[in-house]
Amino acid sequence: MSHQIIIIKSHILKIALLLISTILFFACLDERNSVEVPTHPDGWLDKSSDIFHGKFVEESIASSENCKTCHGQDYTGGNSEVSCFNSSCHNSYPHPAGFADSTSAESHTSFIKEIKWDITQCKSCHGIDYAGAGNQDKNCLTCHTQVDGPEACNTCHGSVDNPAPPRDLSDNFSTEFVGVGAHQVHLSDTTLTTAYIKDCYLCHNEPSILNYPGHIDDSSPNADINFGLFASDSGNVNPTWNHESATCSNVYCHGAFTLLKDSAGVNAWGYADSIITGNYTQMVWNSVGTGQTECGTCHDLPPKGHTAQVTCNGCHGRVVDAEFNIIDKTLHINGRIDLF
Ligand code: HEC
Ligand code: HEC
Ligand code: HEC
Ligand code: HEC
Ligand code: HEC
Ligand code: HEC
Ligand code: HEC
Repeated sequence: MSHQIIIIKSHILKIALLLISTILFFACLDERNSVEVPTHPDGWLDKSSDIFHGKFVEESIASSENCKTCHGQDYTGGNSEVSCFNSSCHNSYPHPAGFADSTSAESHTSFIKEIKWDITQCKSCHGIDYAGAGNQDKNCLTCHTQVDGPEACNTCHGSVDNPAPPRDLSDNFSTEFVGVGAHQVHLSDTTLTTAYIKDCYLCHNEPSILNYPGHIDDSSPNADINFGLFASDSGNVNPTWNHESATCSNVYCHGAFTLLKDSAGVNAWGYADSIITGNYTQMVWNSVGTGQTECGTCHDLPPKGHTAQVTCNGCHGRVVDAEFNIIDKTLHINGRIDLF
């Protein structure tokens, strides 16, 4: 019982305090002349204080309309010359009209790109779990319904199928864009191979959480390409990526292999030369469906330095049939020579 009274009392006291200071503050405003600008009361910047400015705005005791008289219609300073956005405390509030509407030019989706996708700063007001810190008007999860809320892996890039583009970080869907490129081709079953599909590590990091080191590491959306062991044939070749030309070179999977004839003579009968080599084909990442992976592109049929052969199935019969169809996709482009 007594406990309840204390709570009610402190609540009344808080509201009274807010009202009194607001009335005093805004009463002063009415009388202010252009020379003397009243400053805010003590505690205005202190989050734990009862007269913290955020509480005024949120509890609508002083509507944010009142702030505009001095801080400007767009809150960028006005005659107070103090912008709400330049402060070290928050650069996203007050939100413009249309902030919640993803189709608006003022949408939070565009704003998030301006702040380099750092949505962790929204937590200071929207709660550590983005659930609104007790206020439904601030609950991100009403729209972002996935388990990880707005931190879900396909919020900023990718789709319901997987977090790889499309959509890329600039909202592109077409494979012509370097952010999209040949992602999905590498993540789905192809007619040639199934090896290592769905593995982002083949080419770059695969963060497990938003704050994973190196995930969002600079101001550009471009991922840092860092080929995995398979693409380098366990270090035998040095695959490289060129962002400007959007090309990959020296990738094992695309024919960057050189086999030396065994000096002891093991399988030496397959060699017409001292080495068998693939074509070290340079791939254009954003030129999907233009024949870059036709049979005979990554390696000749048979490869250079191989004994002349008309068909392959006589010796590589688990991999390919007499019509040059790949019959076991787990054996082709799997990092191994598959004979008989
Ligand atoms: C009568 C003009 C006026 C009104 C109305 C006004 N302010 Fe201010 N505000 C100022 C001036 C001038 C300053 C800078 C001097 C100071 O800090 O007191 C300032 C400073 C601030 C600061 C501190 C910025 C900093 O980094 O030191 C905050 C926060 C602030 N105002 C919030 C608000 C909010 C929220 C409202 C609406 C509830 C509001 N103000 C209404 C004039 C005003
Ligand atoms: C300084 C506190 C503060 C910060 C920081 C902040 N918000 Fe808010 N946000 C609010 C408040 C308060 C509301 C409730 C409506 C209002 O007052 O505008 C809100 C409402 C919203 C809404 C509308 C919700 C709805 O259901 O209509 C969206 C969307 C939103 N914020 C996104 C963001 C994003 C994204 C960030 C980080 C980039 C962010 N906010 C940072 C205080 C903040
Ligand atoms: C009223 C519904 C709504 C609320 C509330 C909301 N969002 Fe969104 N958000 C959307 C929609 C719709 C999209 C666009 C999705 C798309 O284009 O596929 C989006 C997109 C995003 C994106 C991706 C931005 C990009 O790069 O395209 C992020 C990050 C995000 N919201 C964070 C937040 C955060 C953080 C909050 C809470 C502070 C929040 N959202 C509240 C509806 C909402
Ligand atoms: C708030 C937006 C956002 C969310 C949520 C997000 N990402 Fe990202 N992601 C980015 C941005 C921005 C980049 C590119 C940044 C860079 O390279 O500096 C990126 C890049 C990537 C890359 C390319 C490699 C790299 O690290 O650059 C992968 C893979 C990736 N994200 C996977 C994920 C996964 C998995 C999740 C869920 C755990 C996730 N992302 C959640 C924004 C987001
Ligand atoms: C075959 C190699 C490869 C694989 C596998 C791959 N990526 Fe990428 N990824 C790239 C390349 C190339 C880029 C473009 C880098 C650049 O712009 O310089 C990229 C860029 C990205 C970006 C940034 C997009 C943008 O807008 O710039 C994201 C996000 C991403 N990848 C996510 C993923 C995820 C998630 C996976 C796994 C599910 C994945 N990738 C698998 C090669 C790959
Ligand atoms: C995307 C590049 C690429 C294309 C296109 C390609 N190959 Fe291969 N192929 C390789 C690589 C790399 C190897 C090396 C062995 C391995 O990793 O399986 C290989 C090996 C082979 C072998 C030797 C058996 C083995 O797997 O060890 C045969 C036979 C073969 N390919 C036939 C074909 C035929 C037939 C086609 C057209 C249907 C074709 N290849 C298209 C990359 C390619
Ligand atoms: C008469 C048996 C024979 C036939 C037929 C044959 N190969 Fe081979 N192939 C070999 C031998 C032997 C090697 C060397 C294996 C070694 O060094 O261990 C080899 C190696 C290869 C390699 C080396 C790359 C690797 O890592 O697997 C490729 C690619 C290849 N063959 C493709 C073909 C293609 C394509 C055809 C059909 C046009 C073909 N071969 C027909 C016997 C054959």
